[in-house]
Amino acid sequence: MVFFSRSPQPTPPSFDDAVAPSDVLISLHQLEKSYAHGTSRSWVLRRITVDIKDGEFVSIMGPSGAGKSTLLHILGMHDSAWSGEYYFGSQPVHRLSPKDRAALHKKHIGFVFQSYHLLDHLTVYEHLDVPLSYRDIRKSERDSMVCDILDRFAIVGKKDLYPNQLSGGQQQLVAVARAVIANPKVILADEPTGNLHSSQGREIMELFKKLNDGGTTIIQVTHSEANAEYGSRIIALKDGWVVGAAQSQ
Ligand SMILES: Nc1ncnc2c1ncn2[C@@H]1O[C@H](COP(=O)(O)OP(=O)(O)OP(=O)(O)O)[C@@H](O)[C@H]1O
Ligand SMILES: [Mg+2]
Repeated sequence: MVFFSRSPQPTPPSFDDAVAPSDVLISLHQLEKSYAHGTSRSWVLRRITVDIKDGEFVSIMGPSGAGKSTLLHILGMHDSAWSGEYYFGSQPVHRLSPKDRAALHKKHIGFVFQSYHLLDHLTVYEHLDVPLSYRDIRKSERDSMVCDILDRFAIVGKKDLYPNQLSGGQQQLVAVARAVIANPKVILADEPTGNLHSSQGREIMELFKKLNDGGTTIIQVTHSEANAEYGSRIIALKDGWVVGAAQSQ
């Protein structure tokens, strides 16, 4: 698998005026999430107050059940059942309509789900075309971007297959490729290398590092210290609380 053998992808639409570039890209204030069980309530995220700067590479770490995926889904604007404030650039996500949140997500965020979330009825090729279809990109250019990423991820031979015809690792590669193909402003990745061979995992981390060097903000959930080393900061969660936020080298 050779991710970097080709020239960079065509320049995608830029970060527009709807979300003005600023030092802080993501700002969470007293964000909380809980589930009701009969008369009782269990808390999954507690008073999360965190700023993430434009261009940062942050790792969210913590034990199983700590709330990492829950937090990432809120950042990805998939989940609206929470309280507190979430600003994405100048946009108050906590006040946006579902339609506006979805538009913001589609325009600026690439998301790698912990369980991939590939669609049964779409081929690999079609999965990779979906994020491009949200942008104002000509079909011929889209085709060339899909071919380029299939090549970079060494999955050209799989392009017409459906998810149930792929191995777990291949599904994960498709999920990562889908998140990065449209060159989003932010990549949110939930254990993006969990099902990959260690060398493939390193290549994904190198790809993220390269994208981050080019200005993409990256927030990954990981259990791997080695993966966290690629970032510059760790946000540690435990039982829904932020228990530490360390800078790494
Ligand atoms: N629908 C639900 N109802 C009640 N509790 C839920 C629900 N969904 C998730 N939870 C709880 O939220 C907590 C956080 O889950 P989350 O998936 O965010 O953990 P995680 O840190 O990503 O763990 P892992 O490392 O295993 O992926 C867990 O204790 C889980 O049981
Ligand atoms: Mg999780």
